Amino acid sequence: MARQLMVEDVPAVELAERFGTPLFAISENAVRERYRRTLAAVRAVYDPVEVYYAVKANPILAVRRILAQEGAGGDAFGAGEVGTSLRAGVPGEKLVMNGQAKTAEWLELAVRHGITVTVDNPGELELLLEVAERAKQEGWGHVPAPAFIRLKLPMGEVRATVKPEGPEIADRVLTTVWGFTEDEAKEAVQRALGAPDRLLLRGYHHHIGYFINRPDYHAAAMRDVVGAIARLRDATGFVPDVLDVGGGWAYPSDPESGDDTPHEVAPPEEYAAVQLGALGAAFDAAGLPRPLVIFELGRSLVGESTVLLARVQWVKEQYGRRFVITDVQKHLLLRACIEGYKYRWVKANDLDAPSAGPAELFGPTCTDDELALGYEFPAVERGDVVAALACGAYAQTFNASLNSMARPAVVLVNGNDAAIVVRRETVDDVLARYELPDWLA
Ligand SMILES: Cc1ncc(COP(=O)(O)O)c(C=O)c1O
Repeated sequence: MARQLMVEDVPAVELAERFGTPLFAISENAVRERYRRTLAAVRAVYDPVEVYYAVKANPILAVRRILAQEGAGGDAFGAGEVGTSLRAGVPGEKLVMNGQAKTAEWLELAVRHGITVTVDNPGELELLLEVAERAKQEGWGHVPAPAFIRLKLPMGEVRATVKPEGPEIADRVLTTVWGFTEDEAKEAVQRALGAPDRLLLRGYHHHIGYFINRPDYHAAAMRDVVGAIARLRDATGFVPDVLDVGGGWAYPSDPESGDDTPHEVAPPEEYAAVQLGALGAAFDAAGLPRPLVIFELGRSLVGESTVLLARVQWVKEQYGRRFVITDVQKHLLLRACIEGYKYRWVKANDLDAPSAGPAELFGPTCTDDELALGYEFPAVERGDVVAALACGAYAQTFNASLNSMARPAVVLVNGNDAAIVVRRETVDDVLARYELPDWLA
């Protein structure tokens, strides 16, 4: 009997039969296991340390709930992600609100729930102070409001020591929008320390993110960050209790690298040892006490957990090419279109089927709906189920729909159990937000 693609104990073809396609299927235990492994890995090498979940990576309430049950606090960009996190049972004091354009309403929400605000710029610091003052006067919320200052640094260590990508990464960081320069941070620290009745400055935030799939560049980034923290201590006297180092770890399938052939990616134990080893050593060398370190990991916690199931509609052989037309449009994996992510595709009921030569995998919409081109793929026929692997990170966040096609359902699998956690969109859903003005009615 051929080896089947399984989601936990359920064959993927059975899920496709029962819930229809296109269908995202998430393994609950893959999420739990990855979280537990990651937490154990960081705790083995540093103390104290927490692993938060960056809910942007997969914002489905059930996923956030699983990780809340595991004890993961979280990163949240704005009211929607805060709302999901609170509803999933994450306490406000285990949430961090990030973002470069937080509204006064978002800051109010943060102060109301005791969420730590990662302040992004001097204007926002003043806005947070105003909101905290109002909360104090009116007697609501958590005042002084907990806050981090987000740093944007020139990354000299990354530039000099990460070979060969360092200079390019360091340049790219400077073109990102987030955070205070070191000089701006100095003023912000002084301003925050001058308003202790309204603001509790807990420490700093620095997220370099995923540029390459190697832990050594996170280690270099940590040396840059601690260098800045030490200079800021010398200038202001401020010693942070917390350092939030963001996310950016890779995971085995690594679709973001653009390489869909099997390649080595460091396991979480190695990321933890290399990054936290460098961080601890840098704090010790700078004569700074080791603060609580918070990770905000997204992709590495959920990326591997999910498959996207599609059904082959037709196979066409034309001019020496084999076209496999499926019901999954490429916009469901939007980062493959805009950022070059590459996903691996398999035939669900026969994982070991030999390649029948290159295939052009297509979706159903009116653009060049290419899922994979010139892709070595087994023989398939109308009705077969095929699957993209490792679609757990950022696919839900970014997916779009062309030709007014309804977006797929998402099913959560735990052992033999499977349940819908996002219902399939209907054409009525797609049309529901359209309005006609009087003059067109
Ligand atoms: C502030 C912040 N924290 C955490 C993350 C999660 O990063 P990743 O999914 O690469 O772990 C992101 C991603 O963009 C982010 O912007």
